[in-house]
Amino acid sequence: MKLIKHGRVIDPANNIDEIADIVIDDNGYIKEIGNIAESSTETEYDYIYDATGKVVAPGFVDVHVHFRDPGLTYKEDITTGASAAAAGGYTTVICMANTKPPVDSAETLKELVSREKQLPVHVLQTANVTMGMQGKELTDMKSLLTAGAVGFTDDGVPISDERLMVNALKTCKKLDVPISLHEEDPALMQSAGVNKGAVSEALNLGGAPDEAEYVLAARDIMLNRKIGAKLDIQHISSGVTVDVLRAAKKMGIRVYGEVTPQHLASTEDLVLSKGSLARVNPPLRTEEDRKALIRGLADGTIDMIATDHAPHSAEEKAKPISEAPSGMIGLETALGLIITHTVRTGDLTLSQIIKALTVNPAQLYKLNAGTLSIGAPADIVIFDAEEQWTVPDHFHSKATNSPFIGMSLYGKVKTTICSGRTVYQDEG
Ligand code: DOR
Ligand code: ZN
Repeated sequence: MKLIKHGRVIDPANNIDEIADIVIDDNGYIKEIGNIAESSTETEYDYIYDATGKVVAPGFVDVHVHFRDPGLTYKEDITTGASAAAAGGYTTVICMANTKPPVDSAETLKELVSREKQLPVHVLQTANVTMGMQGKELTDMKSLLTAGAVGFTDDGVPISDERLMVNALKTCKKLDVPISLHEEDPALMQSAGVNKGAVSEALNLGGAPDEAEYVLAARDIMLNRKIGAKLDIQHISSGVTVDVLRAAKKMGIRVYGEVTPQHLASTEDLVLSKGSLARVNPPLRTEEDRKALIRGLADGTIDMIATDHAPHSAEEKAKPISEAPSGMIGLETALGLIITHTVRTGDLTLSQIIKALTVNPAQLYKLNAGTLSIGAPADIVIFDAEEQWTVPDHFHSKATNSPFIGMSLYGKVKTTICSGRTVYQDEG
């Protein structure tokens, strides 16, 4: 048995925020929570962690990562991706399907899922909505679900065809599985990765206007009104999209929203100082948008924080901003960015951010994760919410494409435990 003692246990699923001890049984499940340390003898445990002054929370659940496996493993692979996840406090991650080949067949999916089972954290897999992510023909979702997909997405590429979208939503409703959508209407885009506005003008780029996001999101939300699929709007970047989501939820439409740490922490100005490293789809936007995203999390309009961990090689990101691929790594900086830019500012509580990092994503995907309930798998993160650290220039990830390197953040992951096993230990 293992004991984690004297930590501040925050488990939003059970409305817990108190100093408590946790006992993990020998099979990797949570056995007991409460005031245990003083009434038991140390010899009962083969491992005792003194978490005094630290937060003990359910391991984070990220519904949106890119591990580039198969085919693009020079950027990342499932092994390096999993170790980046563990280092970031994540015990469950869901991989996007824009690989090479994309995950549009049961054959590709099964091979991947079999390898993902061997990893130190839970790595789950989505499959594509459309064949080859071409937006023309639906995949065989039923057989992909049977082969192990936990959700459907063409993330990276928006889906234009409305009739196809209706069919996709209907199929996902029937299968009771989430469909997550990248909302940037190609017809409204001039160039990807940089917000259309002052910064795109300064850099002589066409830019990605926020209406490209909120118009397509609004379309898909309204298409889902009568269908009621588990529709997840990915990486929301615009304050107007938050308003659309809020209104939709008021209307009783089934919809969920994700926001990334980078969109909560930074604005288009980062592109001026970091260039291609700050290029991301959808782009970082204005301070007004950033504040609206935080308000969306605060009032529950946005359900989940998901990293969109998007590794690219140094060579790719060294290209000029108009040619470099979009995306940034995010697993290892997520907690620090969120605490620094939303909790320490007084905008959100630790409990609110942990809810969006654990129970909310776990519930949408029906995962046995995201809580510290007795009997639940012992997937746990221990972090210091006050510790200040500087983002290094190397990561557990294979990639280094972070615009946050060298920045000082608060909130450091100390230990990650998955199924009762320690899978990450901070050395610093
Ligand atoms: O910036 C992005 N990069 N946005 C996406 O939606 C996809 C991702 C990638 O795959 O690199
Ligand atoms: Zn995306």
